[in-house]
Formats: sequence, structure tokens, C-alpha cells
Amino acid sequence: MKLILILLIPISLLNQGCLNNKNNQEINKEFIEKGQSIVKQTFDTLNKELSTAISEKGLKAAIDYCYLNASTITSIYENKAITSISRTAIKFRNPANAPDSLEFLVLNQYGSSIERGDTISHRLIVNDTEIHYFKPILLDNKCLLCHGDPNTEIQSEVLEQIKNKYPGDLATGFRKDDLRGMWHIVFNKK
Ligand code: HEC
Repeated sequence: MKLILILLIPISLLNQGCLNNKNNQEINKEFIEKGQSIVKQTFDTLNKELSTAISEKGLKAAIDYCYLNASTITSIYENKAITSISRTAIKFRNPANAPDSLEFLVLNQYGSSIERGDTISHRLIVNDTEIHYFKPILLDNKCLLCHGDPNTEIQSEVLEQIKNKYPGDLATGFRKDDLRGMWHIVFNKK
């Protein structure tokens, strides 16, 4: 009898675990899809507008564009269900984008995964009231014009403009495919 009980308990625990997991999996799928589509829309808009600003006004003026418009664009998509959309990085340019403690933790975990040679992807952290979606941001060649090697890749007048606008800038010296930062979307669960 004892043996049966001992056997039964883990099985019932397992069942419960499976049920919860199924719900969690559905929630995960839904919010990962939502997160992906918001990041795509926001990133596409940012990217398109940045390219237009660079080609029409030049790199130096594009800095002003980033300064003025990045947060305006992300705020377009915020509503009741989406509490916030932001970009953050450990080596940030704008102090307003400095990571909070949860973001710092996730960014560090991404960093450790990269060091281990793992590929990194989006992730969700769910609590009672909110669902947090994170997506790593990697650099491509175009980004190096403003985030690459300050001696060889960033033109001196662009560097000067960056230093004027962001005296404490930490966001240079990156290489292609480096982890630049991440998107963080907070969904309201209610
Ligand atoms: C024309 C110069 C320029 C280019 C090109 C550029 N950035 Fe930036 N980036 C900036 C500026 C300026 C900021 C600060 C924006 C602000 O004030 O919020 C910034 C901020 C960021 C941030 C937010 C975190 C922080 O450091 O404040 C991320 C992430 C980022 N850039 C990634 C990229 C990626 C990825 C690319 C390439 C697809 C890219 N940037 C291309 C100038 C540039």
C-alpha cells in the first residue's frame, strides 16, 4: 500500500505539471508571436526611417533623428494591453535606455549564452500581472557607422556629434554580429 501511494503521488504531480505546462505553452506561443510581430513592425519602421534619414540628411543628422524619434516610434504601439516597448543595452548610448534589474539579468544571461557558444533567441518571463518578452538585438554592418570602432568605422564628425549629444556614450566599439542590446515588451496580463 505504501508503495502504491508513493508511486501515485509522483504520477498525480506529474499530471498536474503537464496540465499547467500546456496552458503555459499556449500563453508562451501567443505572446512570443505577439512580441515578434511588434518587434518586427517597430524595427522595420525604425530601420526604414533611419535609412531615409541617413540617405536624405547624412549620418550626422541621422543622430538627431535617433535622439528625437526612437522613443516616439516605439510609443505608437503602446496601448492598454502593451505597457511598454523599449530597447535597452548594458553598453547604452542614451542613459534613458539603461537596463533595470530584470533587464540587466536577462542581458547578462544572453551574454553568458554567447560565451558558451549557444545561439540566443527571444524569451518570456511571466509573473502574476505581466508578461515580459525579450528579443536580442545583434549588429549588422550598417550599425557600425554609429556603433563600431570609433577610430576606423565611425566618421570623426559623426563621433563628435554622438559625444555632444551623449557625453557618457558607452555604445561604440562593437563588431558585426555582436549582441548590441535587446527589445523588451511588457504585456499587461489583465
Ligand atoms: C546614424 C547613427 C546610428 C546608426 C546607423 C545606428 N544607431 Fe543605434 N543608436 C544611435 C543613437 C543616436 C542612439 C541613441 C537613441 C536614443 O537617444 O534613444 C542609438 C541607440 C541604440 C539602441 C538603444 C540602446 C542605447 O544604447 O541607448 C540600440 C539597441 C541600437 N541603437 C542598436 C542599433 C542597431 C542594431 C543598429 C543597426 C541596425 C543601429 N543601432 C544603427 C545611432 C545609430
